This record gives sequence, C-alpha cells and structure tokens, in this order.
Amino acid sequence: MTVLELKDVWFGYGPEAVIRGVTLSVGAGETVALLGPNGAGKTTLTKLMVALLHPSRGDVLVAGVSTRGQAPEDVADRAAYAFQHADQQLFATTVQEEVAFGPRQLGRTPAETADHASAALDMVGLSSRRETHPYDLPPAERKLVALAAALAQQPKLLVLDEPTQGLDRTAKNRVTGVVHRFAEKGGAVIAVTHDLGFVAETLERAVVMDRGAITADEPARGLVAASRAVTARVSVALRLSGTPVKMAEVVQAIRAMSA
Ligand SMILES: Nc1ncnc2c1ncn2[C@@H]1O[C@H](COP(=O)(O)OP(=O)(O)O)[C@@H](O)[C@H]1O
Ligand SMILES: [Mg+2]
Repeated sequence: MTVLELKDVWFGYGPEAVIRGVTLSVGAGETVALLGPNGAGKTTLTKLMVALLHPSRGDVLVAGVSTRGQAPEDVADRAAYAFQHADQQLFATTVQEEVAFGPRQLGRTPAETADHASAALDMVGLSSRRETHPYDLPPAERKLVALAAALAQQPKLLVLDEPTQGLDRTAKNRVTGVVHRFAEKGGAVIAVTHDLGFVAETLERAVVMDRGAITADEPARGLVAASRAVTARVSVALRLSGTPVKMAEVVQAIRAMSA
C-alpha cells in the first residue's frame, strides 16, 4: 500500500520555487531518511506532506487522499508531524494532556484516547511522567513527548524533523525503537536528519534533496557506507588523528586549511 505519494510537486513561499517537481512514493513499512544541505527544501517538503503547506502545482496524497483543500487537522488521522523544535509544538500543562490531545481532537472515545495515549507514552518510555509539566522535563524528553503526541494520533505516516537533535544515546535508542516498531506495524516513517549514525541504525531508504529537487534515492546502507568511506579518506589526506573521525572534524580541518 502506498502511504505517501508526491506527484510533480512544486511550491514557493514567494515567486521563486523552493520545491521543484518532486515525485516520491513511500509504501507501508518503509523508513526514509530525507537528507540534504541546509536550504535544500527538506522542512518545506515535510510540511507539504501534512498539509501545513499546499503545492502550487502537482499533488500530495496521504493514504490515497489529496491534501488539496485540506487543513492539517483533516489529515491528522493519517499523517502526524513531530517538529524539529518540540517547544513549537508543546502547549499542554501535563504530558498526559499533551499526548491525549491528538486522539481527542480526532474524535476518539475517552477510552480509546486513554489507550492511544498510554501506548504512545509507553513506546517512548515516558509512562512515569504522565503528570509532569512538559517544561519541567529536560529538552531531550520534551522531544520524546512531541514524538509520543504524534504517535498517539495512530497515523499511517510519521514525519519527523531532526528527531535525534540534542538527544543522548539513551533517548536516541528510544527513537530508533519507536521507528522500528512503527514500521513493523505497517506505518511509514520519513525523518529529516543530519545524523548519519541514526540513519545507519534506523532507516532503510535515503532520499537526498538539493535545491528543491531529489538528487538521489537509494538504500541508506550504501549511502552511509560511501559517506563514511569519503570521510575516512579525507581525514587520512588531512592527517586527522583518532578514530572514529567525525564529519565535523573534517569540516573544521578544511576550514582551518582555507583560512
Ligand atoms: N517561511 C519561509 N518563508 C520564506 N522562505 C522560506 C521559509 N521557510 C523556508 N524558506 C526558504 O525555502 C528554502 C528551503 O528551506 P527549508 O525547507 O527550510 O530547507 P531545509 O529544511 O532543507 O534546510 C530556503 O531557501 C529557505 O530560505
Ligand atoms: Mg529544515
């Protein structure tokens, strides 16, 4: 089953197009990394997937239904979005309220709402924090609350913007677990990320964007391996010591050389 279909999608905030003819199909159970440099259009594309934005040309179909004329709440039963910055998303005074909001808005019964909220909090490992004010949690856990709120909508498509940013190892492992379980149950996941370690551990397919268009779409494993090989070769050439060498160190060394 196709969960997400983009058909020759174009979009611009002003006269200039920042999404230029993107065609993409994502099936049930697929986990996709959306990669690319800053300004490539990744966040814009994810907002088009959940009807926060609408194409100027082309079509976005979520579980077979076009987002044309639909508001985010109209697609919320099929697609859920976890923002890059959880603080832009969280508004309730308890974790429980935050996570129960989605299913309640979707018209679930109180029993279903309680069920979906519990299951979601369980998945991110925050069941013991139900009564806590989200802002009394450390930032990493606030991000997990935002993820749980998306899960509680029980969507077919889970869209995550930089889901591991600012997370420690333990919290990252939880996100990886959530993605795997969600996909096993037939959901599709699209994650914008710069975290290649997370991609390698968690996601199967890598879609690369540049200047509003898709420039590569391939198994994540090959792409991560190629990127590591390049990083390793460059770090040898730059005589960087220590393993593993991080991309950031390579960038820093290149900057130092060209300064
Ligand atoms: N709200 C906005 N208004 C105008 N231009 C925007 C807005 N958001 C993003 N852009 C522009 O759209 C392009 C794509 O941005 P974005 O989707 O945020 O890329 P990415 O997430 O890959 O960094 C960039 O040129 C950016 O400056
Ligand atoms: Mg972005």
